[in-house]
Amino acid sequence: MNIAIDGPAGAGKSTVAQLTAKHLGYTYIDTGAMYRALTLAALHEGVSLSDEEELASLLDRISIGLQQQASGQRVFLNNRDVTEEIRHPDVSRQVSLVAKHPKVREKMMVLQRKLAGQESVVMDGRDIGTFVLPDAEVKVFLTASIEERAMRRYKEMLEKGHDANLADLQLEIQLRDKTDSDREVAPLRCAEDATILDSTGMTIEQVVSRIIELCKNKTQN
Ligand code: DC
Repeated sequence: MNIAIDGPAGAGKSTVAQLTAKHLGYTYIDTGAMYRALTLAALHEGVSLSDEEELASLLDRISIGLQQQASGQRVFLNNRDVTEEIRHPDVSRQVSLVAKHPKVREKMMVLQRKLAGQESVVMDGRDIGTFVLPDAEVKVFLTASIEERAMRRYKEMLEKGHDANLADLQLEIQLRDKTDSDREVAPLRCAEDATILDSTGMTIEQVVSRIIELCKNKTQN
């Protein structure tokens, strides 16, 4: 069984997806991390983020690895651990520019489907229920108010010891959602058969329980 979790930036998808995967003994796949790793590689190699061909060929040349460890998922770029680096604001601000190119998305989709074909997965992203895994047995569109999403990111940044400005973060999230929703290929959309889960005011545990319940209902039917 595969579970697709999509939604806007900062809705808590990765935390929720990771815990759900742990609970069910499934593999967690963070597709946002894959786009982030490509963005980081492009920034390092000086590849223009508007050059679709160069980005697609860069993706062919690099290796992106996702590894589950006790501390959570680690992300590797050419076997180097870049888990923290891909969350850097420079990457967050620019990743949508990379993710909007059709050729990049096409290649990512092939990689992501291959990963899902090997075992049961919980995959999170923007286009999982709509494009990458349209046959996923459980589809969730996880969202929350913009204020709450910005506040969660703000607290996360402070906890990591970074400087943060709540108003700036809110604007950045809104801009990213707009770029992700307005792009022509596989935009951020709720799949017709997805369950919408608004996590505003809910705890992480409540959201995870709700998803586990959806999975149980699915296996009972
Ligand atoms: O979930 P995240 O914030 O780590 O995702 C980073 C960016 O990658 C996000 O702004 C849009 C893009 N993305 C995408 O276009 N499709 C996906 N399946 C996952 C992420």
